[in-house]
Formats: sequence, structure tokens, C-alpha cells
Amino acid sequence: MTQPLHLGLLGAMPEEIGTDLSHLKDLRCSDHGDLTIHRGSWGDNVHLSLAWSGWGKVSAARAATRLLASDPSIDLLVFTGVAGAADQTLHQWDVVLADAVVQHDMDARPLFPRFTLPALNQDRLKPQPAWFHWAKTALLEAHETGELDGFERPSSGLIATGDSFIGDPAVLQALRDALPDLRAVEMEGAAVAQVAEQEGVPWLVLRVISDGADEAAAQSFEDFVRRYEQQAWRLIEALLQRCDDTPQ
Ligand code: ADE
Repeated sequence: MTQPLHLGLLGAMPEEIGTDLSHLKDLRCSDHGDLTIHRGSWGDNVHLSLAWSGWGKVSAARAATRLLASDPSIDLLVFTGVAGAADQTLHQWDVVLADAVVQHDMDARPLFPRFTLPALNQDRLKPQPAWFHWAKTALLEAHETGELDGFERPSSGLIATGDSFIGDPAVLQALRDALPDLRAVEMEGAAVAQVAEQEGVPWLVLRVISDGADEAAAQSFEDFVRRYEQQAWRLIEALLQRCDDTPQ
């Protein structure tokens, strides 16, 4: 019998995980100021601690810190939700697992190079290879078996985080110029990754494309999120179904 996996799960908005938590057993919750942490189990081998952080880096970092401090047994912290496409080959419903994240608005020049996080003296943060490969394999397998019907084939790449909703092609192009391998933009992932790194906990950032980070982004985002709420849990479940193969 393998050790149960304790997954810490965060999303910015309820729609990004799904508000129906009835698939969890022994559900209980605790309030920490305005943050509610929900705990429960899934199947026989997964414990979950989850919360909706709110938008942006500060809210995400605060929720990650609270979640990790609330239970030292969390094995892996996953931030999930939607993202804008920076790579023009990506479209709505494409799944992107970050192989690296960067805070695109971190700029302490001339003291540190652009994007470098002074606390870690690093610009890009990468998930631990064993956890990344587990998640990528799990998602591809789930896609092949049809469990991710409706989602597009999962891929991986660089995701950039910053405190702006990108809906201006010129702003997006400037980010692409600075980060040529950029695939998606969002507002929380790299902040959570930084907290997890500093706390010594493995992390993953898993996103689904909701918009093109262009003039139509706000409308596409709103339409998408409404539909996504019913589907979000299936993406999480694709990972949970494969928790017996985790690298812990
Ligand atoms: N999350 C989803 N779409 C986004 C966008 N266009 N910019 C920033 N974060 C996002």
C-alpha cells in the first residue's frame, strides 16, 4: 500500500477548480480571515487541501503560504486555472503544464537582471523534474483514453505571471520579444511557485487556455470561464486517477 498523496490545490476563482466539491469525502473547512481552506479525501489514496486564492500575485502568495502552513504533510502544491495564449498556436481548451514559470513584472534592474527574483537569485522557476514528468505523462494518458474529452492535447512550456490581465496585442508582443519561448500568461502561477520553492515543497502550474491575450481577451475569458466551471474538476481528476505513480 502506497502512502496517500496529500495534494494542495489552489485556483484563483471557484470556476477554475469547480464549486461542486461533492466528489470529496469527509469534507470540512476552516476559515483564515477571508480565505477558506477545504479539506477532504478523494478515493482511498488522496487527501486534498484546497482554496480559491483570488486574483493576482499577492493573493496567490498569501493563499499558498496559508495552505502550506496549515498542514505540513502537503506533498505537492498545484495551481490550476485558465490562461491567455502567448503562443499563437494555442487556442481555447488547450492544456498547458508549466515546465518553467517567470514573473514577467519583476524588474529590479540595475541591481538584478530583468525577471530575476532577488529572494532566489533566479528568473525562471522549474518544477521538480520527477513531478513534472508524472503530471505530463498522466495528462497525456488521460487525453489518449478520452478522459479529457473536450480539452485539447496537453503540452508544456513557459508560463509568465504578472499583475495585469493582458488584452493588448502590443503588450503581449513586448512580452514575447522579451521571452521568445513564452506560451501563456496568467496572474498567479509564478508567485505560488516562488512560495513553494521557498517553503521547500514541490509545485506544478497547470493551465487551460481561455483567450488570446488580445483585444477580445476580456470577452473570451468571461465566456470561457462560465463554461469551464463544469469541466475544471475533470482535469484535476486526470491527475488524481494516477496518484499511485507519484514520485513521492
Ligand atoms: N488569465 C486568463 N487570461 C489572461 C490574460 N489574458 N492575461 C492575464 N491572465 C489571464
